[in-house]
Amino acid sequence: MPLIVRWKRIEGVMVLRAETMRYKLVCSSCNSEYDMSYKSQICSRCNGILRVEYYYNDITDKDLQLRSYRSLTRVLPKSNYGYYILGDTKLLRDIKDKALYLKLETENPTRSFKDRGSIVEISKAIDYNYKEIVCASTGNMAYSLSYYSRINKIKARVYISKDAVESKIDLIRSNNAEIVNIDGDFTKAQEEALKYSISNNAFLTGDYCYRMEGQRVVTLEIFKQMRALKKSVDNIILPVGNATLLSATEKAIDELYRFKLIRDKPTVIAVQSAQCDPFVKAYEKDRSIEYVKPSTIADAIAVGYPTFGDSALEWLKENNGYALSVSDKELVEARDYFAGKYNLIIETASASVIAAYNRIRDRLDGYTVAIITGANE
Ligand code: F0G
Repeated sequence: MPLIVRWKRIEGVMVLRAETMRYKLVCSSCNSEYDMSYKSQICSRCNGILRVEYYYNDITDKDLQLRSYRSLTRVLPKSNYGYYILGDTKLLRDIKDKALYLKLETENPTRSFKDRGSIVEISKAIDYNYKEIVCASTGNMAYSLSYYSRINKIKARVYISKDAVESKIDLIRSNNAEIVNIDGDFTKAQEEALKYSISNNAFLTGDYCYRMEGQRVVTLEIFKQMRALKKSVDNIILPVGNATLLSATEKAIDELYRFKLIRDKPTVIAVQSAQCDPFVKAYEKDRSIEYVKPSTIADAIAVGYPTFGDSALEWLKENNGYALSVSDKELVEARDYFAGKYNLIIETASASVIAAYNRIRDRLDGYTVAIITGANE
């Protein structure tokens, strides 16, 4: 399996072998179903977003009797190519506040949680023999995808929104990706990437179903790590752009609950910048998501219309989670405070969870895990 060998050689990150599982793809819009040989993340009948539905019955009684976390790390989409490699990032306890833990996704090879999903998408591209992938991005996702594309000798074409910062574009360029700068936001870039994928037989990657599956592992790891510390996970705080990470977190929690590995679901708290908060507005006004024009300095989460927003919001409400926005001023303060306190640089979008925690700390019971998503500014 050359993929594994190459990834191991290139980065000194901790790797795990993940087992995989049978699944089908179901369209969120028209309910069409596809089997594992289907070569796209978009419904061919209506261009709707597909979701991965596992054959959970394949998990054996023995796995469940053991109530082991092995039954969870198995749950990644089956790949003809082989096993995926996953980083096991650090869970850091806050220096002063003993109720707060930080999940450092900044430790991944391209310094963001995006690697979790990119490895699944690139493994699928290899399975299906694609020679080129295409994606839209505010920066991190394209950097991550272009990195794994380069080491697997797949061409990458990325549509970059005008919110992306120059330093991220340089990182993408260093991985030989073809960069198309869009005179528009992430939503516009997404439309262009979809069009290109259809007319050029390129694999459409980005905030779609296989990425979501890889990103679930962040939450599974959080529970595994907290359990080893004999601590409960009572609250999880995370930033929202396209709501893929949020949806992945929700799916992972449902699975833990389904397999009786947790008794209660944690409270999930979704955070956006007040300067780009379509998700929070929909939550507060109890309506579906409406597009807003992004204008935040948190470039990574400058997403005007979250792809997975409506379904993620539905789950959040059903499960007593909530959403809040923080001002750009709070974001900058939290980012600089974090750097001083931990001697760790994180990007502005990721500081949203710290700003939110500072705001709501008094309302939270038990232990809170904040997902620190990236450090590429
Ligand atoms: N944090 C960082 C550092 C990100 O780069 C992103 C998204 C998010 C949080 C939000 O995650 O979209 O799953 O809700 N970045 C995308 C990109 C949009 O293109 O890199 P989400």
